[in-house]
Amino acid sequence: MASTPIASKIIPKAARAPIDPAQIEYTSDRQRNAVEALVNEFTIHPQLLQDIKTKFIEGMNKGLKKDGETMAMVTSYVMGRLDGSEVGSYLALDVGGTNLRVVAVHLTGGGEITTRQTKYRIDEKLKVGDAKALFDFMAVCVDSFLDEHQITVRGDTQFELGFTFSFPVLQTSINRGTLISWTKGFNAAGMVGKDPVAYLQDAFNRRHIPVRVAALVNDTVGTLLAHAYNHPDTCMGVILGTGCNAAYIEKIENIAKWKGDASAKEMIINMEFGAFDKEREILPLTMFDNKMDRKSVNPNKQILEKMIAGMYLGEITRNVLLNLIDRRLLFEGNISPDLNQMWTFETAYMSTIEADGSPTLHATRKILESTLNFPSTTMNDRQIVKLIVELVGKRAARLSAAAIAGVLEHTGDWKQKAAIGIDGSLFEYYPSFNTDIMDGLEEVFGPTVRQNVSIGLAQDGSGVGAALCALLAAKHSPN
Ligand code: BGC
Repeated sequence: MASTPIASKIIPKAARAPIDPAQIEYTSDRQRNAVEALVNEFTIHPQLLQDIKTKFIEGMNKGLKKDGETMAMVTSYVMGRLDGSEVGSYLALDVGGTNLRVVAVHLTGGGEITTRQTKYRIDEKLKVGDAKALFDFMAVCVDSFLDEHQITVRGDTQFELGFTFSFPVLQTSINRGTLISWTKGFNAAGMVGKDPVAYLQDAFNRRHIPVRVAALVNDTVGTLLAHAYNHPDTCMGVILGTGCNAAYIEKIENIAKWKGDASAKEMIINMEFGAFDKEREILPLTMFDNKMDRKSVNPNKQILEKMIAGMYLGEITRNVLLNLIDRRLLFEGNISPDLNQMWTFETAYMSTIEADGSPTLHATRKILESTLNFPSTTMNDRQIVKLIVELVGKRAARLSAAAIAGVLEHTGDWKQKAAIGIDGSLFEYYPSFNTDIMDGLEEVFGPTVRQNVSIGLAQDGSGVGAALCALLAAKHSPN
């Protein structure tokens, strides 16, 4: 049984090896001008970062007033805080990233947790097929996990399961809600407006799998809870991975739309911030973003998410590269059939290219020539590719900073000791994402924010957090 450390970690990733645009030996003035125009378009200058943050706070306030606003600001029904002493055994099912995961979580108190987990790949066809088939698949995965780990229940008791379903869901109780929209490439038919818990519970019941869905959790809420289990001053949980979003603790008196339990003092809000600026009023969208958006399964939606999240950054970069190639400003106008295909420029390649500090840009060359099959590349080609990757990556990190700063300013948490737990592949593996975020926060709040606010990797927030949520659900409404 592996022990899962939830504590903030030193992030084991490379730093960005930045390229100095002045060092690039351009092949023509046209090339130089084109690159300079891109630098302009993709740079989030300090004033723009501030303006985005201000607009973001306006969006938060709107969403706290009523349902149906661009940022949904979903009331999660999670009201209690954790102190690390909680004990119990729960199952967690995590759906909403690249893989589906089933986790058995054992909370032993004192902030200690042990977990066992298995990942299952969700077929692309299932993501956009029939909803019932998707939920049946989830139930089958849980069943085979119980078999594989020989986990059984006594008599007619049931496992309590925390269901991390990381899509915009309007919650109506701790284990009820309706799907507002699909995101991140999922689009299973007929689910919008329906309760994902009802679908999952039905799939378990039809198979006689002894599991009760005790809590419906967004991954950001789970991340906040998981981080809080051993950092009690946690004020936010953030996901920067395939998708992006955050949850934070809000005072009940600030949630004008809340009609529930008035005795509660605070509640975790799932912001659904990826939807910010659907109106396209402030985000500096480029034609490369728009091209990607049009071809996505959810055009015109999740505009901020599409500028930040790992699912999209590679495709934006690919669009920029194709444009330069078509203007004969890169690779002498030669294209590779691989790069012609959508989604072939993976965000993971960007991480490698960002970290490539070798004199000949060797790692960048390998990706372009061996993976993407360009017959040959020049140093100039590789430098420009690296610069573009850096522009797209840094823009994502600075937009994340603007959003996090918006929350910290709204709550005032930046003025005191506060921890932010962040999970997701982008934060974990993308070079310098964390430093870019911290630099952005400093731009907004000044140097004190570095002493007060810590941002740390909250690994496995979705699994452990779902278990913690199931525990809180049982504590607050035993049934
Ligand atoms: C979803 C959020 C989720 C985020 C990170 C977004 O696409 O709408 O609910 O928290 O991805 O997984």
